[in-house]
Amino acid sequence: MSQAEVLHTPLALGAITLRNRLVMAPLTRMRASMPGNVPTEMNARYYRQRATAGLIISEATPISPTAHGYYATPGMHSPDQVEGWKLITRAVHEGGAPMFLQLWHVGRVSHSDLQPGGALPVAPSAIAAAGNTITATGPQPMPVPRALETAELPAIVEDYRLAASRAMDAGFDGVEIHAANGYLLEQFLSEHANHRTDGYGGSIENRTRLLLEVTEAVTSVWGPGRVGVRLSPSNTYQDIHHADRWEVFSYAFRQLDRFPLAYVHLVEPRVAGNNDIEPVFDLASSRFRPLLTGSQRLISAGGHNRESAARTIGEGHADLVAFGRLFLANPDLPERFRLNAPLNRYDRATFYGGTEQGYLDYPALDSQSHAAGGA
Ligand SMILES: Cc1cc2nc3c(=O)[nH]c(=O)nc-3n(C[C@H](O)[C@H](O)[C@H](O)COP(=O)(O)O)c2cc1C
Repeated sequence: MSQAEVLHTPLALGAITLRNRLVMAPLTRMRASMPGNVPTEMNARYYRQRATAGLIISEATPISPTAHGYYATPGMHSPDQVEGWKLITRAVHEGGAPMFLQLWHVGRVSHSDLQPGGALPVAPSAIAAAGNTITATGPQPMPVPRALETAELPAIVEDYRLAASRAMDAGFDGVEIHAANGYLLEQFLSEHANHRTDGYGGSIENRTRLLLEVTEAVTSVWGPGRVGVRLSPSNTYQDIHHADRWEVFSYAFRQLDRFPLAYVHLVEPRVAGNNDIEPVFDLASSRFRPLLTGSQRLISAGGHNRESAARTIGEGHADLVAFGRLFLANPDLPERFRLNAPLNRYDRATFYGGTEQGYLDYPALDSQSHAAGGA
């Protein structure tokens, strides 16, 4: 078997068998129907085109009205949203791929314009993240958020549980807890974003508490082999800093190892959010892999190409590799990898929001070769 062929071998993920090792990474596209943040037929067509993946992870999906931080993201907190997601899971299953929903609370990465009643976004502490988020009127600076009261945290955990349960109603095969890229759960992990003095701040054990409570709640809904957790130990996106990255994330990994997860999904040090960077931290999946002692799989994401993916799996550092920008631009990515065919280039200008352009019109290989006269 050539090194790249490993990408096309099946793999058991909990109770599901994936037909290849290529995962479509979660990709926010901001094209839900507004008002209401409801998934649409157009969204279903986009995902259906990419049902060539071994596994699709949905775009990050707010679990409650206060969990929103970008305009036109599809939620999982209303009956209409559940109906909208059914269009998508049905289409993806027709294409033969399983699909997990990424559960999202943005915390301080939001704006009053996106919050119920124009309230301030909520976060572990009243510390703003530098930068902008995207509202209906365009980018706006993120305000100083309101620190959550200790008594409010059980309701946040309950929102995760309810959204996980709605995902089951909507026909998903599992859910992924988004604890990466600087959103609420990573804000709790970070001693810079979390200055709390209650049981959810201070020590690493305390800062990890909310993530573990959420994991407990979500696995109680879905059972073994149906829940993943995404972590980005090297993340600096959304103004995240950690003084003690290895200590925080190795502790989180060891604790997550106690749950019957389908997988842990790790963002590699060579990306920050949606951009390539020079790696700064020695926190690649190879360091974390030995900390998973059960049947959980490891997904490696960030900056991969065909060769790095095959090498990562071949060397045993991960079981699956997720692709973000390449899957966005290449609906038939597995086939292109199999043939070692050229790839479509992605267009950053149409990543977030808009129409079918830059969403549904990335061509598959066969349509291109017909257009080019069948080369
Ligand atoms: C347009 C866009 C939207 C993204 N949205 C999400 C998201 O909703 N949830 C998430 O965890 N990561 C998100 N990411 C990060 C990707 O999942 C992935 O980690 C990143 O693009 C690096 O992988 P790549 O080099 O294969 O693109 C997004 C990235 C892009 C380019």
